[in-house]
Amino acid sequence: MSLVSMRQLLDEAAKGGYGVGAFNVNNMEQIQSIMEAARETKSPVIVQASRGARAYSQDRFLYHLMLAATEIYPEIPTVLHLDHGNSVETCKSAIDMGFTSVMMDGSLMPDGKTPSSFDYNVDATRRVVEMAHEKGITVEGEIGCLGGIEDGHGAGLDGLAHLTDPDQAVEFVEKTGLDALAIAIGTSHGAYKFTSKPTGATLKMDVLIKIHKRLPNVHLVMHGSSSVPKDLQDIINQYGGKLKPTWGVPVEEIQLGIRNGVRKINVDTDNRLAITGAIRKVFAEKPEEFDPRSYIKPAREAMKKVVALRMTQFGQAGHAGDYSPISLAEMAKHYGAQPVLV
Ligand code: 13P
Repeated sequence: MSLVSMRQLLDEAAKGGYGVGAFNVNNMEQIQSIMEAARETKSPVIVQASRGARAYSQDRFLYHLMLAATEIYPEIPTVLHLDHGNSVETCKSAIDMGFTSVMMDGSLMPDGKTPSSFDYNVDATRRVVEMAHEKGITVEGEIGCLGGIEDGHGAGLDGLAHLTDPDQAVEFVEKTGLDALAIAIGTSHGAYKFTSKPTGATLKMDVLIKIHKRLPNVHLVMHGSSSVPKDLQDIINQYGGKLKPTWGVPVEEIQLGIRNGVRKINVDTDNRLAITGAIRKVFAEKPEEFDPRSYIKPAREAMKKVVALRMTQFGQAGHAGDYSPISLAEMAKHYGAQPVLV
């Protein structure tokens, strides 16, 4: 099976009332962890790469690893998605390379740091939609700004600094014709999201619900959705790490989001924590080891466990075989017939 359009996965998830995890990758082992978890749980998957990941993997390694994934796991509908494209040019380069979905994050200027104007965001996103839909490729946009910084991308703001305004979200979707909308509801990238278990004052699920009521047919995306589980923090600290106490997004809140239009859930940090904990454990317990496989294999297994658990919790488990993938050419025709969602 070739790489498939994200729009199809999200449309199917909407029909089935479930969410789909989008997991970040930089290397072969992370791709293997995700694909193994998908096979074990029979899940469709979104594999995503940031600009940092593309640079790290020199782009071509990443692309060919993803082709290998489609060969080895032909039964799994698999999307390759660009996470936080900072400009129209970045999205174009991803489309040219074979990504089947791109995020144009026009909530920030191309420096990936400065919050942009609404008009700039509409214009950049609309241009990517035109370019991508012609090829059947999916577009995610963002309105409002997330907190934190990820791979050098992000305004480094508090998660509550630029929440999504529901009226603006409606206008943004109408003016851009995008496929999926990332919203800012108080989450941020990275391990340090909340200094205590989030409440309605810090994690604004009420804003998400309002947006869903205004845009019931739009696929919503939750970024910064790692749960930062205590057990993963503890393993790192038990074996010499120095993580400060921190809280992530509770899975129950993500599930509430899924009942209110969230179809894509971005997770990176939880997998980073799982990998680091597993490697630290081997280094501490077997200091005589020097074969990289002796610590990379447990790390791969630890990430697979987290991904499989999230796939089950988000509800995508069991849905890999529900539908036959539509080709990108067919998706392109579909966009021609139905350019705007609302
Ligand atoms: P986390 O840092 O919470 O895993 O978020 C990742 C993300 O949103 C990628 O875009």
